[in-house]
Amino acid sequence: MMTKKILITGGAGFIGSHVVRRFVKSYPDYQIVNLDKLTYAGNLLNLTDIESAPNYEFVKGDIVDAAFIAELFRTAQFDAVIHLAAESHVDRSISNPMEFVMTNVIGTVNLLNAAKEQWKGDYAQKRFYHVSTDEVYGALGETGMFTETTAYDPHSPYSASKASSDHFVRAYHDTYGLDVVISNCSNNYGSHHFPEKLIPLAINNIKNNKAVPVYGKGENVRDWLWVEDHARAIDVIFHQAKAGETYNIGGHNEWKNIDLIKLLCKIMDEKLGRSAGTSEQLITYVTDRAGHDLRYAIDSSKLQEKLNWVPSLQFEEGLAKTVDWYLENEQWLDDVTSSNYQSYYETQYAER
Ligand SMILES: NC(=O)c1ccc[n+]([C@@H]2O[C@H](COP(=O)([O-])OP(=O)(O)OC[C@H]3O[C@@H](n4cnc5c(N)ncnc54)[C@H](O)[C@@H]3O)[C@@H](O)[C@H]2O)c1
Repeated sequence: MMTKKILITGGAGFIGSHVVRRFVKSYPDYQIVNLDKLTYAGNLLNLTDIESAPNYEFVKGDIVDAAFIAELFRTAQFDAVIHLAAESHVDRSISNPMEFVMTNVIGTVNLLNAAKEQWKGDYAQKRFYHVSTDEVYGALGETGMFTETTAYDPHSPYSASKASSDHFVRAYHDTYGLDVVISNCSNNYGSHHFPEKLIPLAINNIKNNKAVPVYGKGENVRDWLWVEDHARAIDVIFHQAKAGETYNIGGHNEWKNIDLIKLLCKIMDEKLGRSAGTSEQLITYVTDRAGHDLRYAIDSSKLQEKLNWVPSLQFEEGLAKTVDWYLENEQWLDDVTSSNYQSYYETQYAER
């Protein structure tokens, strides 16, 4: 196996931390550099199990800072980039779209420029992998699925900024010949997920007997994938996809939000020894999100057929595993909900 130096951006976030862990553990010959700004969503407590690994390094920094990114590439001489850093919460994009433009669009273009400059047209053994979302495709009606050729039709500032970044990544392939790959994935769930998102928020609130907010009537449909299956898909695509290709990643696992929350309530009642139906009483319907896409469903048959990837877990099993993780890792949840995680960088890295 060739030695590679790989920059993973956003590695302190939910999906990024799973990708960093997978690469650090699976490829001891690779040097993994995790670049993260440590916004509210970045949490180094996600990575304590690998932070001392000899093939891992953390760098705190902002992808919006073009001079810093250019200098980092000049000094580090990366062979590849796996780009996950992003503002990722749709509700936040509705209240503060510009932050999404800066990180998701400008930040991505800064990385593309730095990679292009460092590699200077010699892309043998070089690769820029951009991690994106199925939300770029817009919304579906009752039927149909997004494929890799579905036209982009983003509706929220978040999905518009991700769509824009996807276009820039493709443009750098078509214009400059940069070796790029893109994957568009459905909703992820699993451990280390910041509890502002549906599943960890509901688990935390059910645990604490607090209201579980559900948008509108809970009719919105999402396709859910276990985060470790996403990380494995990224590994497979990174190593095997041809330059310029796009892959959809998904679980073929569609759930109405309300059905998902009811299933979660059932699992939580069992795990917490509550009588059946107790947690469902916490469900509270709230005013729907503006421009809320009705249904997402992703066709990942290209990935399954060409690269032999299939999801490893059934949803009920994955959800039960996820609930177990949050119940067993109360300290993580407490540190996140009390913002204690934000001081970890200072205590852990200040002296280095
Ligand atoms: N969560 C999902 O269900 C999902 C699904 C498909 C695709 N994605 C995509 O996967 C990627 C990761 O998503 P996530 O859910 O792990 O997000 P997240 O919000 O949990 O993590 C994002 C990480 O990026 C870092 N970051 C933010 N702005 C930065 C900046 N300017 N410079 C450097 N670092 C910065 C944050 O500190 C954080 O660690 C995103 O690109 C997202 O669009 C997410």
